Amino acid sequence: MIPAAGLGTRFLPATKELPKELLPVLDRPVIQWAVEEAVASGADEIVLVLAEGKEALAAHLRPDPALEHLLEERGKTAELEAVRHAGNLSRVTVARQAAPRGLGDAVLCAANAVGDRTFLCMLADDLSLAEPPVLRQLWNAHEELGTSILALMRVPKEQISRYGCAEIAETRGKLHRVSGLVEKPPAAEAKSEFAVMGRYVLTPAIFAALRETQPGALGEIQLTDGIGRMLETEEVWGVEFDGELLDVGTPSGWLATNMRLAREHPEFQSAVAAIDGTGGA
Ligand code: UTP
Repeated sequence: MIPAAGLGTRFLPATKELPKELLPVLDRPVIQWAVEEAVASGADEIVLVLAEGKEALAAHLRPDPALEHLLEERGKTAELEAVRHAGNLSRVTVARQAAPRGLGDAVLCAANAVGDRTFLCMLADDLSLAEPPVLRQLWNAHEELGTSILALMRVPKEQISRYGCAEIAETRGKLHRVSGLVEKPPAAEAKSEFAVMGRYVLTPAIFAALRETQPGALGEIQLTDGIGRMLETEEVWGVEFDGELLDVGTPSGWLATNMRLAREHPEFQSAVAAIDGTGGA
């Protein structure tokens, strides 16, 4: 499940018309990076949660016979291959969120599409730079423990107030049993240095928990609150994943991620080297 019905206010004015998930990172849009990670992690179906006006996101993931035909006629083989690849990554189902009532509400909007299954949930705002991908590491932990799994990242204490923070009851190597969650705690009150990142394995119990979760600030239903409620009935574990998640949900994060990936990419590194060479870095 990829909830992508948010407003993208941190990226205005770029996202006034264009969904932030369609902004390119190197040569492909953010949504494609997300779906490629999901597929590489074993997902065989994608449920996209969309708001009105964001249909182009689903269109990017579907075949485009007219464009393919044109590229074929013109002998643009590499481009044809790239377009076919993007349009055939996975089966895609669309669920709708009528109004931006929060991430928890967006997840609930996909309840029918998901059904009574344990599922992977990912926010496209971060790209995984990890082998195996972060989502796969979470699924491996789920296969070991059988519970919902959160992606945990150690952050310096003074930065924890930017994240959801997990309280830890028990540790087995890189696996930690979660006993509570607090959204953006002041550093002095944080119960751990573990931030909860935007990758999850969730059991279907999350839907009942979210139905009972009251809206918080701004009338939004928080996924964190739903997971907190789920803790009353079942165990939730977190995995301290290997590798990195790179922010593409803010202009500065997006820019830094593009620069970083470009430096390592055979097609783009010379362009970046030219800037570095003349830009007085
Ligand atoms: P964010 O908190 O990043 O919000 O949502 P946003 O709207 O995407 O971006 P900003 O903060 O205004 O710049 C985290 C994730 O939850 C989804 C978003 O699409 C994003 O992937 N979301 C959020 C929804 O699907 N629906 C909502 O009502 C809120």
